[in-house]
Amino acid sequence: MATWSAPGKLFLFGEHAVVYGKPGIAMAIKPRVQVTVHRSRYAQRPNSPYIAECLDFLNVKGSVYVKSQLPSASGLGSSAAVTVATLFAINDEFQLGYNKEEVTEFAHEVEKITQKGRASATDTYVSAYGGMVLIRGDEKRRLIPPENFSIVIGNTLVPHHTVDQVRKVAEFQKRSPAVANPILDAIGALTMEAMHNFENQHELGILMNRNQALLNALGAGHPALSRMVLAACSAGAYGAKLSGAGGGGCIWALCPRTVRHRVISAIEACDGKPIPTEIDMEGVRKERDQ
Ligand code: MEV
Repeated sequence: MATWSAPGKLFLFGEHAVVYGKPGIAMAIKPRVQVTVHRSRYAQRPNSPYIAECLDFLNVKGSVYVKSQLPSASGLGSSAAVTVATLFAINDEFQLGYNKEEVTEFAHEVEKITQKGRASATDTYVSAYGGMVLIRGDEKRRLIPPENFSIVIGNTLVPHHTVDQVRKVAEFQKRSPAVANPILDAIGALTMEAMHNFENQHELGILMNRNQALLNALGAGHPALSRMVLAACSAGAYGAKLSGAGGGGCIWALCPRTVRHRVISAIEACDGKPIPTEIDMEGVRKERDQ
């Protein structure tokens, strides 16, 4: 038996645009997902398409158990964390001998297959390596997380499906490239501006709000997300935006520490669930053998 765990992620800037080669910034967050794999010839096919694909991809038969405190279908990277932890656990249990870089690349491949060919390496890379990362195409740059980065996550409890959201944006881009491409370009430019403004939280908040408006224009919004973003900003957050594929799921708000409790109450008043979190500097890791 092999047990591995991997962190979730918060998409700070650039989701969707990153699928089209633009830059994106994401951060690994607690809580983590824990996956145990053991060899078994007669294992049932798992319900999760990501886990089924991991087993097929590495051509092994085994049972996979998942323990997770990350809400699924919420934009906090639970599918990527499950994929990463499963592949590392399989590599360990079946002694396949792949290195970390290779297994991380397999995780991206598995996401691409499961998401019908469209997935950036962001979620899987962040989950494998932890910390804060800038991704642009094949380029991955680790960033130094700013101090005093006070964030609050709010779950709208509206489930979403990354595959559908990514497909919707792809259809929009194909149908109306003259409209969609400038939006994707603007999100990319805004992500680079954000990268140079991580120490200026006031400015970062403005950029978050612009990114949120552009995500709405792309069709990734949802009334529950808009309501929660507005509520967080009215409660004193510098800015707020959705995280991940949108259409439901979570928002994150950047706020002065002094108004944290007000932002949390605002999320609750929107029938949402605040999620306590912090950056996880550690990526995938082995937990224990049984
Ligand atoms: C999903 O967490 C983020 C998207 O940009 C998809 C991806 O990057 O693969 C919507």
